[in-house]
Amino acid sequence: MRENNSIGLKVFDLTKANFGSEFKWGVAASSYQTEGGWDADGKGESNWDYFSRKSGKIERGENADVAADFYHKYEEDIDLIKAMNFNVFRFSISWPRILPQGTGEVNQKGLDFYHRVIDKCISVGVEPWITIYHWDLPQVFESQGGWANRKILDWFSEFTEVVTKEYSGKVKNWMVINEQLSFVGAGYLAGVLAPGKKSIKAFLKAVHHSVLCNAEGGRIIRKNISEANIGTTFLTAYIEPVDQQKKNMEAAMRVDAAVNRLFVEPALGLGYPEDTLPVLKKIRKYYEAGDEERMVFDFDFIGIQYYFRTVVEKSIIPGIRAKEVKASERGVPFNEMGGEIYPEGLYHILKKFSQYKGIRNLLVTENGTCLPDQLENGKVHDPDRIKYFEDHLTAILKAKQEGVNVNGYFVWSPTDNFEWDKGFRTRFGLVYIDFQTLQRTMKDSGSWFQEFLK
Ligand code: GCO
Repeated sequence: MRENNSIGLKVFDLTKANFGSEFKWGVAASSYQTEGGWDADGKGESNWDYFSRKSGKIERGENADVAADFYHKYEEDIDLIKAMNFNVFRFSISWPRILPQGTGEVNQKGLDFYHRVIDKCISVGVEPWITIYHWDLPQVFESQGGWANRKILDWFSEFTEVVTKEYSGKVKNWMVINEQLSFVGAGYLAGVLAPGKKSIKAFLKAVHHSVLCNAEGGRIIRKNISEANIGTTFLTAYIEPVDQQKKNMEAAMRVDAAVNRLFVEPALGLGYPEDTLPVLKKIRKYYEAGDEERMVFDFDFIGIQYYFRTVVEKSIIPGIRAKEVKASERGVPFNEMGGEIYPEGLYHILKKFSQYKGIRNLLVTENGTCLPDQLENGKVHDPDRIKYFEDHLTAILKAKQEGVNVNGYFVWSPTDNFEWDKGFRTRFGLVYIDFQTLQRTMKDSGSWFQEFLK
């Protein structure tokens, strides 16, 4: 038994009971990454269907036409979630499955699919938690500018109205949007995720529109669902300067503003972090009357998604004037996507977010890692992933014992799936999928949770 880790909590304190009986234990997944059935039963084309075929930016030219085939295998997968003793399944709804043309005619077969998923969850005693938007936009909208087009407010509201009315009787726990920074930043500025744009102007517009939609989504859920528990989810990273030189410490503050503050602060009524990151003042050009109030919503909970620490130094990159010093250059452990494995960072992030007055309740709505799995005689061994979970749960427990109001932990992800531009190379699952046969095998980490959550 490891006595202590660097955040000073003994691993033998790590029991389910120490998190309290109200604590939610879940797994998280998304529609495009798992479902497949890309044109099944009247589904329309999404930005990701288009991007993965046309952009040439996905490793080995892969796409999620079939993915984990959750569309057909959802019963087996939900049984596995139950078997691992989780009590929450967080998943997202594919917008073009519900509204194949983006707006207008509703596809009944699409609605029926999520009814089946929800009913299956309920029948086995797993709570369905729905994310309304996890990056699969109808391509008809992406081709009109997507999130950089202010019409997204109407488009997104229509979709949110449809799904919240449809499932209001069965689902009480909702998250509006998954990680604005990822699809807005990597999609419209860095150009690595759909739609693959590299435009500061499109990025700033998309930031603002996503902030408005996030709050508007909250209001629509509140209106349509009585007793709803309403949240949204943010990408976070623990940011540190490479050394204590002033220029690098300031660079770290700018990156922290871009990563950890840009989306939560406007939702809390604090506006964009313009003082730290002056380039954000340009967003004001895209304000319309009433926007300042419309950016705000009082969420019941905030979903923290934490994967890594980012160490930075000053650079000449315009706007942010900082760049990452990669984990591989620093001689520290990292995952197959280059992200540093740094559990203490989750503790610090929980402490940081708990200091906002407007945040009442935190859940870790994603945490997990991609590390090599060892296949041996029909078993899948992943000892490093188990250690990852032990250490990150320890970090949460330490924060909780110090009074942070953190009330849930959802593993990314129940099964291996399509990891965006990395295709199927990087595996995050507790359950291994052979993507040739689609056969599922619980990994040792899945069995570890089964035991831990018993
Ligand atoms: C995200 C998304 C997931 C990813 C996961 C692993 O956080 O980027 O919510 O879709 O698959 O984070 O990178």
